[in-house]
Amino acid sequence: MALVTSTEMFKKAYEGGYAVGAFNVNNMEIVQGITEACREEKAPVILQVSKGARAYANHTYLVKLVEAAVIECPEIPIVLHLDHGPDFETCKACIDGGFTSVMIDGSAHSFEDNIALTRKVVEYAHAHGVVVEGELGTLAGIEDDVKVEEGASSYTRPEEVEEFVSRTGVDSLAIAIGTSHGAYKFKPGTKPQLRFDILDEVARRLPGFPIVLHGSSSVPQQFVDLINRYGGAMPGAIGIPEEQLREAARRAVCKINIDSDLRLAMTASIRQFFYEHPDKFDPREYLKPARQNIKEMVRHKLVDVLGCNGKA
Ligand code: G3H
Ligand code: 13P
Ligand code: ZN
Repeated sequence: MALVTSTEMFKKAYEGGYAVGAFNVNNMEIVQGITEACREEKAPVILQVSKGARAYANHTYLVKLVEAAVIECPEIPIVLHLDHGPDFETCKACIDGGFTSVMIDGSAHSFEDNIALTRKVVEYAHAHGVVVEGELGTLAGIEDDVKVEEGASSYTRPEEVEEFVSRTGVDSLAIAIGTSHGAYKFKPGTKPQLRFDILDEVARRLPGFPIVLHGSSSVPQQFVDLINRYGGAMPGAIGIPEEQLREAARRAVCKINIDSDLRLAMTASIRQFFYEHPDKFDPREYLKPARQNIKEMVRHKLVDVLGCNGKA
């Protein structure tokens, strides 16, 4: 199967009460770990690339890695998506350069400027057979080089979503209902609670329309513990409870973004390896268990959180 857009995936996910995983990719081992789990679990998948990933690994290397995954996993549909496109030029470069989906993140702009920028990207993307994700509302946390303090974040205002979607023509919408980017989402001792009332009101106003959740890593405590045990220092790393993500997937959320959990799985494994084998220095030896750890973490997400196993 060639790379696909997310149109059909989201339709099936909405109707089926599950979500598709959108995992950030930065190198070969991450692409392999994710797609091997998806192939074995027969799950559709979105592989997404941030501005930082393009700067780190180079656009062409990432596209070719994803194309290799398409060849290796012909049974599953794979979307190649730009995560947090910062401007029209970056979106255009990805549309021209083989992506099947882009996000234009105009959430830091005024409502009118966000609409104008998003509309411009949609016109170009749709003319080239590419779908677009827009965003309304601001998440807390770190994305690329932008850090949004907790107090500066804002929930999506449901009364704005119909106008935003109809004036921009976006194919999916990321909303802010209490998720947050990075591994330090909440202060220790606080109880994370997603605003399902906002999600449901958005869904009521946009029936059948696919909603996206960013900042949805759950920061598995076993990885944080391993990192801390083997020389790391990540006190107070807290994520979104997985049962709340599962609940969001049952409702209108069709795409759930996970990046930090991949990083934690990889880092925990590498730290443990070096602690246990201080004499080893072959990257293949320490990246192999890291890739395996990513694969098992992703399998758990597909089956127990997203509910998209067997849906390819
Ligand atoms: O939301 C942002 C993603 O986690 C990407 O992170 O910009 O460090 O690649 P990055
Ligand atoms: P996490 O930092 O929670 O993994 O969020 C990733 C994300 O939203 C990518 O766009
Ligand atoms: Zn994000």
